[in-house]
Amino acid sequence: MGQYTNLFVPSFETDQDEEVERKTEMQTLNGGGGGVWRFKGNKAAKEAASVSMKGILSRAVANYLNSDLPHKLKSDDIFMTIGCCQGIETMIQVLSSPKSNILLSSLVYPLYHSYAIHDLVEIRKYELLPDQDWEIDLQSVEAIADHNTVAMVICNPHNPCGNVYTYHHLKKVAEMARKLGIMVISDEVFKETIYGKNPFVPMGIFASIIPVVTLGSISKGWLVPGWRIGWMAMNDPSNVFKTTGVVESIKHLLNISPDPSTILQFALPNILEKTKKDYFEKKNLTLSQNVDMMFDALKEIPCLVCPKKPESCTSLVTKLDLSLLEDITDDVDFCMKLAREENLVLLPGEVFGKNNWVRISIGVERSMLQDVFVRLKDFFTRHIKSQTT
Ligand SMILES: Cc1ncc(COP(=O)(O)O)c(C=O)c1O
Repeated sequence: MGQYTNLFVPSFETDQDEEVERKTEMQTLNGGGGGVWRFKGNKAAKEAASVSMKGILSRAVANYLNSDLPHKLKSDDIFMTIGCCQGIETMIQVLSSPKSNILLSSLVYPLYHSYAIHDLVEIRKYELLPDQDWEIDLQSVEAIADHNTVAMVICNPHNPCGNVYTYHHLKKVAEMARKLGIMVISDEVFKETIYGKNPFVPMGIFASIIPVVTLGSISKGWLVPGWRIGWMAMNDPSNVFKTTGVVESIKHLLNISPDPSTILQFALPNILEKTKKDYFEKKNLTLSQNVDMMFDALKEIPCLVCPKKPESCTSLVTKLDLSLLEDITDDVDFCMKLAREENLVLLPGEVFGKNNWVRISIGVERSMLQDVFVRLKDFFTRHIKSQTT
């Protein structure tokens, strides 16, 4: 029995509950001193709470993910979370133990950093190869891992780099993780935001090689970042997560935190089952046109070098060539001055763990992107080193 068993609230009615309810009913009618009390709690909340959506939800998520998977997920392989963020938080808490370390990519969604720091899990960074489609440098993974390494986090499609890993590369990642005896946490929150040549391959396909936790949500694919509902999927046909206590630990952690809002729980099965393909295609076409426009426009701003045109996600990362600029010290200085002078906010690479890179968001209207280009060009013209003009 787990430590937090006392926190479970039964979602079903017992004989005892009915007995208590009958007594309360009588007391209400009779009143404290024999008269009639005029107040009585209504039952609306009880009825809402007694409808357990969890089974329906997990089945809907499993069905949604299973279309791409050889080892089919069952509903008890799915845990619902308050957005993908809670999946990240939960997995890092689950893995936290004295001396444990996790492997993150050199450019990484910053919440992984924050939660690892908060939960005292040591962070080790592996390299990505911008000239090779941002693939993972597997040698760098092997070089930093040791017997205290517990997991490797991959992000596919990758935010912020905008690449989509191939089947062959992911297989090599799985084999490497197997050799190291670690799990793979695969952040697939951008799986519906792909507009390039590489098709999406879920890491769960390799679950027979290595146990994989897939993290996802509706925030990106459906463009609803405020709708806080997501999932964690245990791709684990060999039951490694059960035998190592990972599943139990996840259950305990989720039992002491709130669930996604009831409205979203009810909406999710329809969202996952009924969204038509052309909804994603239309959205992704717009993003791809935005990327084309910005990628070409950047050729006129040589201090921002984009090594690879993104094929997914909603941003474009560029290396900042400081040697072309007169009075800019680093990415943060660049972004601060740009915000002050042009009222334009780009994200400095420091946020993603890579100094002297800059991220430009392309998930906006085309006219806005054209304006971004004009402001960037004006800024560059003002700060360019005199001998380079
Ligand atoms: C790679 C990645 N993972 C997770 C998240 C968080 O997703 P959610 O909004 O569903 O919590 C984001 C949000 O930007 C992200 O980029």
